[in-house]
Amino acid sequence: MSSCQSDERDPKVKEFQDPRTSKGLQRIPCFQHDGLCLFVPPPEMLKGARPVDRVNSIKEAELKDDDIVICAYPKCGTHWLWEVIEMLTSGTLQHQKAVKETRMFEFLYKEGIEAVPPRRVFNTHLPLRMLPKQVVEKKIKCIQIMRNPKDTCVSYFNHCRDMAEPYNYQGDFVEFIEVFMSENVPFGSYSTYLQSWKAEVAAAPELPTLDMYYEDMKLDPVKAVKKVARFLGLASSDKFCEDVADACSFKKMKKVDQEMKSGLPIKIWADGSGGTFYRKGEIGDWKNWFTVAQSERFDIIWNKKMKDSGFEFTYSPV
Ligand code: A3P
Repeated sequence: MSSCQSDERDPKVKEFQDPRTSKGLQRIPCFQHDGLCLFVPPPEMLKGARPVDRVNSIKEAELKDDDIVICAYPKCGTHWLWEVIEMLTSGTLQHQKAVKETRMFEFLYKEGIEAVPPRRVFNTHLPLRMLPKQVVEKKIKCIQIMRNPKDTCVSYFNHCRDMAEPYNYQGDFVEFIEVFMSENVPFGSYSTYLQSWKAEVAAAPELPTLDMYYEDMKLDPVKAVKKVARFLGLASSDKFCEDVADACSFKKMKKVDQEMKSGLPIKIWADGSGGTFYRKGEIGDWKNWFTVAQSERFDIIWNKKMKDSGFEFTYSPV
């Protein structure tokens, strides 16, 4: 899906394969760095620097001891978890006016990260090896949120299709399934992302991490909020956790997004596309998109890649 370019000045940067889809459609502009396909940032974010230098700067960013980082593959519920943690850490039910992209490592880079005032709840789709070195050195609390891969695939397709030019994916869903299973998608394949997370966390055993699942948050939001509060060492009352879960329901967050959110660093959605970070918010929407044959083929490929990984996904609300 991505027109991944090479950068000959960095030995880790190699060229991705065919930059066009099988139907000859334009793919999303990406570059490859350290084995990962990443969006080429727009000029206002690059500020004249090379994409690879901007990404590398993240590793050198200074962190504060009580920073928190949400790590997640795209479309697994980062916005939701970010709002929950902002409420828990601030002890209020106020929704953030700013969008969570204003706290995203890959939008901020080193100078932007360091300029964020405390208390800071960052988020990222990058693997651990590309995060600030101080994440591991300072034992920063990291929360991973995961989602079943079929709903993630559907959500990612809708996201990419609705993006503003030049980032708008122009292939169809059937083709996107193949792209989603390949490494040639922004932030790489979901299976590789999860396997990398597992391996990188195993190599940093003192890093405090919590694994969350989107489906668990959906099925029992109060329990999920309490789990996060406990991990963060917060003395949030049961009542407050219930109120946070309610304030962060899909319906309420969608309304808040439409009425008061601001601060997106770049134009994300194409005019008239209806693009939104709050599309459906359900478990099992994939059944409206995959045929039985596509679903079976997906299972075979996914299960082969994820064999013995230990991740358990919920594909249906009951
Ligand atoms: P869908 O496209 O399936 O609707 P991310 O925040 O990582 O980009 O993930 C976006 C996905 O999370 C979207 O999924 C979105 O609707 C869903 N989502 C966002 N807020 C939610 C909430 N409060 N409850 C449930 N799902 C939510």
